[in-house]
Amino acid sequence: MTASPAFAPTVELHPHPRTRDELGVILANPGFGNYFTDHMFLAKWTPDEGWAYPRIVPYGPLTLDPATAVLHYAQEVFEGLKAYAHADGSIWLFRPEANAERMQRSAHRLALPELPTDWFIGSIKALIEVDAAWVPNGDEKSLYLRPFMFASERFLGVRPSQHVTYGLISSPAGAYFPEGLKPVSIWLSTEYARAGAGGTGAAKCGGNYASSLLPQQEAAAQGCAQVAFLDSTEHKWVEELGGMNLFYVQSDGSIVTPELSGSILEGITRDSLITLARDLGHEVVERRVSIDEWRDGCADGTITEVFACGTAAVVTPIRSLKWEGGEAVPGDGEAGKVTSELRAALVDIQYGRAPDRHGWLQQVLPA
Ligand code: PLP
Ligand code: COI
Repeated sequence: MTASPAFAPTVELHPHPRTRDELGVILANPGFGNYFTDHMFLAKWTPDEGWAYPRIVPYGPLTLDPATAVLHYAQEVFEGLKAYAHADGSIWLFRPEANAERMQRSAHRLALPELPTDWFIGSIKALIEVDAAWVPNGDEKSLYLRPFMFASERFLGVRPSQHVTYGLISSPAGAYFPEGLKPVSIWLSTEYARAGAGGTGAAKCGGNYASSLLPQQEAAAQGCAQVAFLDSTEHKWVEELGGMNLFYVQSDGSIVTPELSGSILEGITRDSLITLARDLGHEVVERRVSIDEWRDGCADGTITEVFACGTAAVVTPIRSLKWEGGEAVPGDGEAGKVTSELRAALVDIQYGRAPDRHGWLQQVLPA
């Protein structure tokens, strides 16, 4: 494989971008994943050229041959991160290198080529430069960035694709859950697992989410916002939710989160909250948590708060865990003190209201 050329994207501006008025309406109430900015970034990889043809183009459909490999064998990975507008109008990313590195690990697991970190971050900066007007102001709002990579070779044999497309789209975002910041209920999936030992659970690949949709449908039918998955071998150890990691606050003030078992996604929010919780004086333990501990701990008061975290969900309190014929409610089911404290510590850094002591922010555009 030849070395990838220096990152120098071409830019083709949209002939008819959204008007200022249209944008104002969208940004006032963006929801999550409903609207996409005027442009997108694309690049392609082949074994001969490496990563090549970086370009910003007007947002629009991709044309795919029906035999495109990803449509058949799901050789695909993606990422999710956000750009935040600070009060002075400057625009910042939160730990983008961590997303670049996780995408490289995901790509490796899916036999896709690794996108260099400077291309990953460069694509984000290039897109935000042309679509800066789309970064919403205001608490809880951000521009959600969705880098993705897929097997774009046209063939039906089962082998790694020799033509790969990298894309980046972006979408103004408010709260992920329509309820806003209200505590949510979670459904325990007893029949289905999200990932197994040696599988793709630690990779951020589309297939993991496809397999979570049926249990997610069951959860919705039970009035729950997300599904909690257990390990696939013993059906005993708590892993994570369909798109978020889990934390438990205990009555002695310590905090527990399921250890990275190899089948859990290594959340960047999870990692950041572990650091922030320790900064705030909490003991944080990464270890196995059984479903019995979750249930009994809520009943006997050992577990006082449970929350989920992720880029999209930020920090979301969990009101109850439900299953056929039962439920476990921590404390009084309202957002707990430690959950609220950690959430504030995180978002205050992201929105520039608190000092960035860990060097997590990277400026994209000045004030
Ligand atoms: N777990 C899963 C399955 C996810 O999809 C996500 C979201 O990206 C997370 C955890 C949280 O990861 P992060 O905090 O990096 O967004
Ligand atoms: C994210 O948090 O970025 C995700 O990709 C999870 C998904 C539920 C939107």
